[in-house]
Amino acid sequence: MARQNIAETVKPCPRLEGEVILPGDKSISHRAAILNSLAWGKAEISNFAPGKDCLATISCLRALGVEIRRGGPQNWPTLLVSGTGKDGLKGMVMLKEPADVLNAENSGTTMRLLSGLLCSQPFLSIITGDASLRSRPMGRLIEPLRRMGAEIFGRGKDSFAPLVIKGRELHGIEFSLPVPSAQIKSAILLAGLFARGKTILHQPIPSRDHTERLLKQMGAELKTESCQLNPLINPLAPVSFRIPGDISSAAYFLVAGAIHPNARIVIKNCGINPTRTGIIDVLLDMGAKLKMENERMEVGEPLADIIVESSELKGVEIGGDIIPRLIDEIPVLVVAGCVARGKTAIRGAGELRVKESDRIATVSRELSRLGAKIEPLPDGMVIYGGEPLLGAKVDSHLDHRLAMSLAIAGLIAKGGTTINHAQVVQVSYPAFWQDLQNLVD
Ligand code: S3P
Repeated sequence: MARQNIAETVKPCPRLEGEVILPGDKSISHRAAILNSLAWGKAEISNFAPGKDCLATISCLRALGVEIRRGGPQNWPTLLVSGTGKDGLKGMVMLKEPADVLNAENSGTTMRLLSGLLCSQPFLSIITGDASLRSRPMGRLIEPLRRMGAEIFGRGKDSFAPLVIKGRELHGIEFSLPVPSAQIKSAILLAGLFARGKTILHQPIPSRDHTERLLKQMGAELKTESCQLNPLINPLAPVSFRIPGDISSAAYFLVAGAIHPNARIVIKNCGINPTRTGIIDVLLDMGAKLKMENERMEVGEPLADIIVESSELKGVEIGGDIIPRLIDEIPVLVVAGCVARGKTAIRGAGELRVKESDRIATVSRELSRLGAKIEPLPDGMVIYGGEPLLGAKVDSHLDHRLAMSLAIAGLIAKGGTTINHAQVVQVSYPAFWQDLQNLVD
């Protein structure tokens, strides 16, 4: 994300009301594009996530020789993917050597998932990203892939991107994930699809399971309970589907509706995969008036409509196994904690330090500028709720989730809150400012 500065100002409003149509889930969109690229046949993926992260995945896949077109009634965001799987399995050559360095931009999911895949493809790939992504840990990815026989190298003694990958034949491993990371788990599974022998993963704390769900839909031999994957003997079958709404984007409106004194917001077609619904569990625990309607399954993923209304929130303790189920929603949960009665403590969330920004540092610093009382911890934060918030100038640190969380705080901070580098919402939710405005009008 370029260092230009587009600022947005948010002011309190008398009423927050309306319906939100969410962008497609970012995590599922990456996987739908990557896995369908490996299938034998064409897939049509509608409501594909419109943000820059998923566009980076598409650019990389195109550079690897996959034909991806935009289609559908409005031309976008439907994606037509022509899988390369027909001849691929014979020699495991599914993709072609990219002519240039691949760029994952701000997207950890693009870099880590594609690296897992590229380790089995018999050519050289180099993958880089923006300054934020180049500072995020890659040793945790390199280590298990090397155990599978991969030749993958990174800057800083194999710690950081750019990554250089010389594809070769891999073998399956049995591996216990040291961090509950769906990106690492998925990278290993993607490598395992084309490896010799089984890949077995142990997850001390489970992380989001979209890769496993989609792989099963596409015919891969995967035991989900024990996370055991057999290498492919037949090509994956393409899967056409509509991507569920992104619960990580819904989170901003769930918190907005709960903390605003005069609000009712309806969020349609939201993904409610249980590995992602920690935000709902915590908000209910805090006393939020939130209900789900029209629950259903679509292509292996659960969805619902969610309705949230003005609530009296109380502080809670957040920690343990729930953390991976709400890791991306913590910045906006901190905003809820600022408004809640009493203390909210978040612990066991050290992973926040290695996200798009060091979210423990940036969230505490920027919300403190509005008058919030937050104590940063090495692995979380303690928030002393109920301090009145006062509008001020704040900065997104080029972190999309921080920009949107600050906007929600701005709805209840007296005066105006100006968020610098607000354009960063493009990473996951380009229509965020417009959708927020629609609820205020
Ligand atoms: C993601 C997994 C999570 C999450 C990220 C998206 C994914 O990261 O924070 O925004 O799509 O797999 P980790 O798996 O590194 O925890």
